[in-house]
Amino acid sequence: MDVTTERSAFREDLLRGKTAIVTGASRGIGAAIAHRLCEAGANVVICSRSADAVGEVANTLAAKGYTIHAIAADISQKADVESLIEETTAQFSQIDILVNNAGITRDMLLMRLKDEDWHAVLQTNLTGTMYCTRAVLRPMIRQKSGRIINISSVVGLAGNAGQVNYAAAKAGIIGLTKATAKEVGARGITVNAVAPGFITTDMTAQISEQHQKQLLEMIPLREFGHPEDVADAVCFLASDAARYITGQTLQVDGGMVM
Ligand SMILES: NC(=O)c1ccc[n+]([C@@H]2O[C@H](COP(=O)([O-])OP(=O)(O)OC[C@H]3O[C@@H](n4cnc5c(N)ncnc54)[C@H](OP(=O)(O)O)[C@@H]3O)[C@@H](O)[C@H]2O)c1
Repeated sequence: MDVTTERSAFREDLLRGKTAIVTGASRGIGAAIAHRLCEAGANVVICSRSADAVGEVANTLAAKGYTIHAIAADISQKADVESLIEETTAQFSQIDILVNNAGITRDMLLMRLKDEDWHAVLQTNLTGTMYCTRAVLRPMIRQKSGRIINISSVVGLAGNAGQVNYAAAKAGIIGLTKATAKEVGARGITVNAVAPGFITTDMTAQISEQHQKQLLEMIPLREFGHPEDVADAVCFLASDAARYITGQTLQVDGGMVM
């Protein structure tokens, strides 16, 4: 099934004129989110550490006629995040939507987990999400509106052996989401999380065929998700249709964790 073509019609104009930032959009889920938000009419700024890779995604989407801008930024670095926000504001004058999607894994059983792998995963997934969220609050509070969507994981809800660092970071994102939602709700800003299950991307490509078969057995819908499934949930939460939803975690996991 061509998921992209099949679903695009209902999103047209949903986000017309809005400006969105999507972190970690050089491939996988982030690239699919960028595509969806473009289809919905938003001006989109995407970032990743690799200027070439994120530039390529932007070129592909710009060739379809969308307004998209690529910036090389490492969200684990505060200075990079500040430049990302400054450049976006300079280009589009406001920031309506932030999607904190950038994430990494460094899997290992806790007994053998290296300090550097703990810190790297927490620094990118959790601290990076905090840096980006904190940086957009001032412009969003000024304009009295905003949508922040944080990509967590079902691993943050259910845990997963070999992913203590990742599970802690993704659970932390859910706490950060709820606390921020309580702080800024009165300012017209909603903050929600999306928790994907098993989505076919580079991140999950390393999982052995045998383990993939076992995982499939745990999914009531009996298929792995597509990046577009996550992108649809993000697009909904970014839209006016989700105006009365905040502090929530929306699972996109085929029923894997209930
Ligand atoms: N795939 C799944 O099954 C699944 C399930 C649950 C949750 N998630 C979450 O969904 C998000 C996207 O996952 P994915 O599967 O699409 O992963 P992916 O294919 O590995 O893509 C990760 C993206 O994040 C970027 N990135 C990594 N570190 C970064 C940093 N410090 N600063 C800026 N960009 C950075 C990468 O680009 P560069 O390398 O160029 O920086 C890439 O664009 C992640 O937060 C992941 O934890 C995925």
